Amino acid sequence: MNVLSLPEMEHKITIAVDGFASCGKSTLAKGVAQALNYVYIDTGAMYRAVTLYCIEQEVDIENAEAIEQALNALDIRFKTIAGKNTTFLNGRNVEENIRKMQVNNRVSEVAAVSAVRCTLVRQQQEMGREKGVVLDGRDIGTVVFPDAELKLFMTASIEVRTQRRLLELQAKGQTVSSEEIAQNLQHRDHIDSTRADSPLKQAEDAIVIDNSHLNQEEQLAMCLVLAKLRGAS
Ligand code: DC
Repeated sequence: MNVLSLPEMEHKITIAVDGFASCGKSTLAKGVAQALNYVYIDTGAMYRAVTLYCIEQEVDIENAEAIEQALNALDIRFKTIAGKNTTFLNGRNVEENIRKMQVNNRVSEVAAVSAVRCTLVRQQQEMGREKGVVLDGRDIGTVVFPDAELKLFMTASIEVRTQRRLLELQAKGQTVSSEEIAQNLQHRDHIDSTRADSPLKQAEDAIVIDNSHLNQEEQLAMCLVLAKLRGAS
């Protein structure tokens, strides 16, 4: 008889990566997911897709009821295209459009609407039901998966975050000043941390990672050790 001993059995956990805007959450979450062969879920992309829809369809973002109604017309999905996680809104690839400044400037207001949070949180819980997932966002360890085996809370200095975002946007051919980026990051952090419904905050049992002076490889290696210690395989 061929019986697997415990360590050889696959054990999937849930990994929550929360933190401020532009702290490298998605880079880390994608790296961890790839290394463990887990599914990566970019929850920020879902809030961005709702925001893009509102902008394009001229839904009044100041009107929570109008946004709530719009939710019924939305279908948000992720597909892997050429190895990249790609966001689809009602069947259209919106991966590029949801990262533009016009969305950055309004997404925190949309994400503060309770009906939006309620709908998206339910979808995220469904996607992660079977574990073996890495989710990045603002409320993953506190609201979406409060029982996640590993919770990471990422932070970095505003200077480092601004510089990283500037290079990212420049690489995509977008022209924007570092002042505009710093303002947008601070504005979003403020709204995200002070909203009434599930504000961004560190879960009590989260491990804080300040990556101002860590490179991507060091950060990934550290998190993989933590994931293994929490039982991931
Ligand atoms: O991670 P990101 O920058 O792509 O997220 C965009 C916005 O969406 C962010 O400013 C706050 C909101 N968000 C949220 O409220 N809860 C999440 N789980 C993920 C993102």
